[in-house]
Amino acid sequence: MEQPAPALPNTPFHRLGGAPIFEAIANRFYDLMDEDPAYARLRAMHAADLDPMRRSLPRFLAGWAGGPRDWFEANPGRCMMSLHKPFTIDHAVAGQWAEAMQRAIADVAPEPADMAKAMGDVLVDMARGMGR
Ligand code: HEM
Repeated sequence: MEQPAPALPNTPFHRLGGAPIFEAIANRFYDLMDEDPAYARLRAMHAADLDPMRRSLPRFLAGWAGGPRDWFEANPGRCMMSLHKPFTIDHAVAGQWAEAMQRAIADVAPEPADMAKAMGDVLVDMARGMGR
């Protein structure tokens, strides 16, 4: 049976501070989405209860950034772009996601700055790629 890849210390996941930082990014992101009227349309697309997203997003981001892959093991073959296909994501709402994520990273995971910027930039590209 294939063994899970060992956790590597030089990954974005570890350089940014590991699981607690990824949980903090996701919590800040959903707090902003919930509280800032600038993200009202994005908020309205999500379920009333954001707790499942507060659990899911940091686990996805952790695996994606080179950390523990439990989200990917629980969701074999699930692609983030395909998962969003059923939603109607226009450019404005994709921009709301991108902006809230950049703010969340800046608020709770600003160091190391090059790593934080690189991760924010890639997530912004991913969000914009979902907009139509
Ligand atoms: C571009 C704008 C985006 C919009 C409008 C959007 C919207 C949504 C919505 C409506 C859901 C279902 C949530 C619910 O039922 O409460 C969802 C799920 C999810 N989204 Fe997004 N999303 C966007 C971008 C992204 C990006 C860029 C990522 C990752 C980098 C992401 C990660 C996730 C994850 C991990 C889930 C939950 C999947 C699961 O574990 O079932 N989203 N998204």
